[in-house]
Amino acid sequence: MRKWLFRGLLLLIVLGVVGAGVGVWVLTRPPIDTVGEVSFDRALAVPPLAPSTVDKDGRRVFELRAQAGQTDLGRGEPSATWGYNGAHLGPTLRAKRGEQVVVNITNQLGEDTTVHWHGMHLPARMDGGPDRPIRPGETFAPRWRVDQPAATLWYHPHPHERTETQVYRGLAGMFLIDDPDTDVATLPHEYGVDDIPVMVQDKAFDDDGQLTESGRFGSEIGILGDSVLVNGVPGPYLDVTTTLVRLRLLNASTARIFNFSLSDGRPFTLIGSDGGLLDRPHQVERLMLSTGERAEVLVAMRPGERVVLRSGPPAPEGDFATRRFQGGGDRFDVLELRAAATLKPSPAVPSTLVAVPRLDPASAAETREMRFSTRDINGRKMEHGRVDAVVTRDSTEVWTVRNGHGTPHSFHIHDVQFQVLARTDGGPVPPLLSGWKDTVYLPPHEGYRVIMRFTDFADPATPYMFHCHVLRHEDEGMMGQFVVVEPGGAPQLTTHHEHGG
Ligand code: C2O
Ligand code: CU
Repeated sequence: MRKWLFRGLLLLIVLGVVGAGVGVWVLTRPPIDTVGEVSFDRALAVPPLAPSTVDKDGRRVFELRAQAGQTDLGRGEPSATWGYNGAHLGPTLRAKRGEQVVVNITNQLGEDTTVHWHGMHLPARMDGGPDRPIRPGETFAPRWRVDQPAATLWYHPHPHERTETQVYRGLAGMFLIDDPDTDVATLPHEYGVDDIPVMVQDKAFDDDGQLTESGRFGSEIGILGDSVLVNGVPGPYLDVTTTLVRLRLLNASTARIFNFSLSDGRPFTLIGSDGGLLDRPHQVERLMLSTGERAEVLVAMRPGERVVLRSGPPAPEGDFATRRFQGGGDRFDVLELRAAATLKPSPAVPSTLVAVPRLDPASAAETREMRFSTRDINGRKMEHGRVDAVVTRDSTEVWTVRNGHGTPHSFHIHDVQFQVLARTDGGPVPPLLSGWKDTVYLPPHEGYRVIMRFTDFADPATPYMFHCHVLRHEDEGMMGQFVVVEPGGAPQLTTHHEHGG
């Protein structure tokens, strides 16, 4: 009896010590910091421009094949990855405003997928939402007319509960829209030369060089990697040959927020956001992008110099838990820019860019509140059969989108680009939010009033999505559906989604 008591006591003491040790480790574990540690020994890969053909009806036709493969991600042995038309990531699709496009998507994965055109104004049926899965072996051919300003959009899967995993494994690519009326001819625009796609993603690896898909210990936002890839390349450098280089930055991570700066603190020029160019350039020293957000920036280079694109903690830094568990204290070296000994002079940056007509809140037909908290929006989780907002075609709406607690979230809406009217706490709105947006970071306890106009594509049968773009949150149901109807119309969902089917 005494022996058992003694053993029990010993076990309790051991458990207590181990528990305390884990606690101390969790609380004192230093943030990830790769600044100065990255060797920049691989040339940045530029995703190829996707080939296209023009069919007899004059439509531009692309092919995308979602497939599995093996990729050298700098781990000594190849990592299992997914990609479009290749082992990892996807080609850059490019089309002109006014063009009809068709994308033949073939699913060669062993599970359902979809392709969503993030930022694109298009009919809900073509939008690749989770209600219309592409089954393994199937082909789906969305078609639409490109009708929006020149912009840096992207595409990625959006299947029911599998978005984080599929994007993380490598399914993502850019979609560039060209439009002479809303672009500026004197800006750098030679793809891969002075106009560079920069898809930034964090990854975690196991000892065998394979992608780790479990969330970081204590993370409320899913996977947080300790290394950063640009266009799938670890430790990349870019050879710059012009005095100005245009970077099309895309945070294609599943959760991580990047707060970009240059290593010597020099300012750079912000010229565009999610939905296109801003009305004028802004000099900035930092630029924060949450997942799904894009920014176009110009970096001025002097002959022969090197400067590193870095990322530091988001601002505001957030509470203790955010810094400790949500990556809010981490710092990364991302991409080294290496200027050639002689640089081709680029035209000066114009003082104004494009007209961004302001939407007028007085014209709003509807106002809504969307509160993002735990894994819910307004206390509700995504349900395929439920419509959360019925929007009348040709109307303007003002939504207040707010983070109701301390975990980072974001707001993303399909179909439209919005404008930010104000921050809910009355604080300043950064230049990145001065133009067209489809995704906005919601810092803990903060939010924004946004305005948007729903001009086209009434379809009572097919919903569009709005959601948090932290992909694990989206998968866990932090998503709602809206349907665009003609005046007086009502939604009549004919969902194609089947659970366990
Ligand atoms: Cu980029 Cu609904 O997603
Ligand atoms: Cu979220």
